[in-house]
Amino acid sequence: MSKLLIEGQRKLRGEVRVQGAKNSALPILAATILCGDESVLHNCPCLSDIDVCVEILRYLGCRVSRHGHTLVTDSRPMTGDEIPTSLMRQMRSSIIFLGAILARCGRAYLSFPGGCELGPRPIDLHLDALRKLGAEITEHHGRICCSAPSGLCGASVALAFPSVGATENIMIAASLAKGTTIITNAAREPEIVDLADYLNKCGACVSGAGEGTVIIEGVGSLHGTSHTIIPDRIVAATLMSAAAVTGSEILLRDVIPSHLGSVIPVFEEAGCQVDTQGGRINISAPQRLRSFRMVRTTPYPGFPTDAQAPVMAMATVAKGTTVFVENIFENRYKHVEELKRLGANVSAEGRVAVVEGVGELFSAPVQAWDLRGSAALVVAALCAQGVTEMDTTSFLQRGYEDLDVTLRDLGAVVKKI
Ligand code: UD1
Repeated sequence: MSKLLIEGQRKLRGEVRVQGAKNSALPILAATILCGDESVLHNCPCLSDIDVCVEILRYLGCRVSRHGHTLVTDSRPMTGDEIPTSLMRQMRSSIIFLGAILARCGRAYLSFPGGCELGPRPIDLHLDALRKLGAEITEHHGRICCSAPSGLCGASVALAFPSVGATENIMIAASLAKGTTIITNAAREPEIVDLADYLNKCGACVSGAGEGTVIIEGVGSLHGTSHTIIPDRIVAATLMSAAAVTGSEILLRDVIPSHLGSVIPVFEEAGCQVDTQGGRINISAPQRLRSFRMVRTTPYPGFPTDAQAPVMAMATVAKGTTVFVENIFENRYKHVEELKRLGANVSAEGRVAVVEGVGELFSAPVQAWDLRGSAALVVAALCAQGVTEMDTTSFLQRGYEDLDVTLRDLGAVVKKI
């Protein structure tokens, strides 16, 4: 198991390219199953979650090769319709394969997915929606058996919550269903739009992605295509937090500023100057940050839950009080106890966390508990006095491609041991 040693209080400077979005690449990789053909996906980040996804595709019989940041998948030889529990447990997104395998094979056998522990993460919305599309689903001893003997049929699906994963699963399954599927209260995240773009390039007929109502006209078959994954807005927000806490100026390249529409104002309120131009964001931070108004996480276009932890790290050293309200996941404050080890003054109860900014953080051994919580600890360590030792970097590798290298290139003193 590797650790990170981070020597704080170093200024960052320079340019950094933002990696492709994990949360786009995962559903799109699952969707490659549908086309029974070759797909070429550019800008796929090198992450352990992507490796698990590739392992699942290979287990199902697909061929996958990586050439730098390009993944080539060939789902022609696919024969499997089952994913073993050991692979399902490795990440939450493995559930996205349910709609894809079902649409391609008419049946699918999976287990309940694993992933970061952020509180209960049910899949009822996924299962209810697939039942509406005609799937028969039974659950035995943690295994989900799903079949559609007469094929899937389009239906109206009203989601009780705009779940990202459920919206993706329905879009994927409905692309090959007979007739029209209408999803209301659909998730509107940029990654949903990216999935729709990929599916449409393969010959699917998806409209309304990015809005509350998504319409999918089922088609008889899909074909392969080539597609470039969008930039990762959460990685961008994390790097901006790193610049903010260190009073630095950095330039982010290959980013889509409009995807950060609810995030950039928080940095501006904290006193940073944020300039966007084309696919670039330049952030210049003041010597001391100011606290910002309440940060409430909500589905897109609201403030993303995935950026809550790194931005909280920023609030710990801002002058004044910042209140966070986490509305998406029940248990997403595990980083709070670790931030406190570094001297942060944070109290969290239920969905609310109150951060009283302190003048300085101090290094301490810290332990990561989940992906975005790890990112928060890295951000905090970058401004802490002394050398912070962080355990369990495997969480980071799920979502950040070589973050230690990226930060070193920007001038940070970060060592992986
Ligand atoms: C996706 C993202 C994750 C992000 C999250 C919210 C990927 C791979 N992951 O996760 O990084 O934090 O969106 O933006 O894209 N829910 C149910 N029943 C369901 C499904 C979800 O109650 O069947 C609840 C969840 O418990 C959670 C909320 O809905 O409280 C949001 O979950 P969802 O949008 O589905 O998140 P994921 O797709 O798992």
